[in-house]
Amino acid sequence: MKYAFAKRVRHLQSSAVRDLLKIINKQNVISFAGGLPDDRLFPLDGVQAAFEKTFQSGKKALQYQETEGYAPLRELLCDRMKVKGINSYSPEDVLITTGSQQAIDLFSRVFFNPGDVILTEDPTYLAALQVFESYEATVIPVLSDENGMLMDDLEQKLKQYRPKCIYVVPTFSNPAGKVWTIEKRSAVLELAKKYHVVIFEDDPYGDIQFNEDEVYTPIAALDNGDYVLYTSTFSKTVVPALRTGWIAGPHQIIRMMAQAKQANDLHSNSLSQMALYHLCLDFDLDQHIQMLRKEYHDRMKTMLAELERSGLPGLSYVVPKGGMFFWLEVHESLDTTKLLQEAVKEGVAYVPGAPFFVGRSKQNTLRLNYTHSTPDKIEEGMQMLVKVFSNAMEKGKVY
Ligand SMILES: Cc1ncc(COP(=O)(O)O)c(C=O)c1O
Repeated sequence: MKYAFAKRVRHLQSSAVRDLLKIINKQNVISFAGGLPDDRLFPLDGVQAAFEKTFQSGKKALQYQETEGYAPLRELLCDRMKVKGINSYSPEDVLITTGSQQAIDLFSRVFFNPGDVILTEDPTYLAALQVFESYEATVIPVLSDENGMLMDDLEQKLKQYRPKCIYVVPTFSNPAGKVWTIEKRSAVLELAKKYHVVIFEDDPYGDIQFNEDEVYTPIAALDNGDYVLYTSTFSKTVVPALRTGWIAGPHQIIRMMAQAKQANDLHSNSLSQMALYHLCLDFDLDQHIQMLRKEYHDRMKTMLAELERSGLPGLSYVVPKGGMFFWLEVHESLDTTKLLQEAVKEGVAYVPGAPFFVGRSKQNTLRLNYTHSTPDKIEEGMQMLVKVFSNAMEKGKVY
């Protein structure tokens, strides 16, 4: 039987790379591919205690809850956002979502008609691109350097395409591991105001910063609450399994998204929300985040040391100041999509860079995650990876 799927699902097809990565998880391969935190560092006791506390409130905890999310958690999130300088949202301007991923989806659902334009960095977060495309939005890439978008190009594209939104991951981006300067953050907001466009600021990694002394002010902290939607998540700092994130923004947009959420799933898992509320009260989340910063920083340095001694010709990268990823450009003769199979045979996996691009993709790029593997596995895996790339170049194979 040939099923008559809607036209828009043509964007949802699985790729050969995805299929390969699925197999990797089942094999004995050192994987730098997923965007995974390390489960050995999960605060299991804290999460368990938080659920026990949740169940102490009895059967009521098992009832349907309001779509907007558990009110005490929304209040607590406003307090936590204030610490980052984000002052303009009250609990009514916050919607709890099933991860930040759902925030991206609900926003797209209420904003995009087919053909509406959204501007993004290039490369950018793959699963956001998939959402935008599933709502038949047209994604236009903006040029950037290692400090963020190029404002001239952004302004020209704002004029030319009249987009509805600018999507950015300004603090330790996925996949590029970049951090925007404060000047770029202010400038993008000024342009958003000038052209009446909202900014969707996706900030899952902001807490994983390696240099305690640096301040990465969210764009939302520079705004008065009219132009920026800010989403973040507990996936990287607590655990992804609770599937809890949030979005804060202009009240009208949040209200519309809550209505869309009602149609979508009524509300996110309320036991997770209550447990996270108790976790934030009874467990020292900030201390836990400090531990993660140190641990992930050490792992980044282990990967960096391997890159530095690799001797690979044509290798370039920016050293991440936080987050979970290295973004590499290797010699232009190498096609990382084609080489992935050889790497997996050798015992190591990565994500080829090509799918993250909106515009012309660079085949000689890849993303490496350093948070999921232990330092000794990082060393072992990197040596395998360097061998695969060196061999490919030595043999002069045309990939
Ligand atoms: C940039 C970015 N945004 C959003 C998400 C979604 O995170 P979650 O749905 O787990 O909160 C991720 C996950 O990797 C991400 O990298």
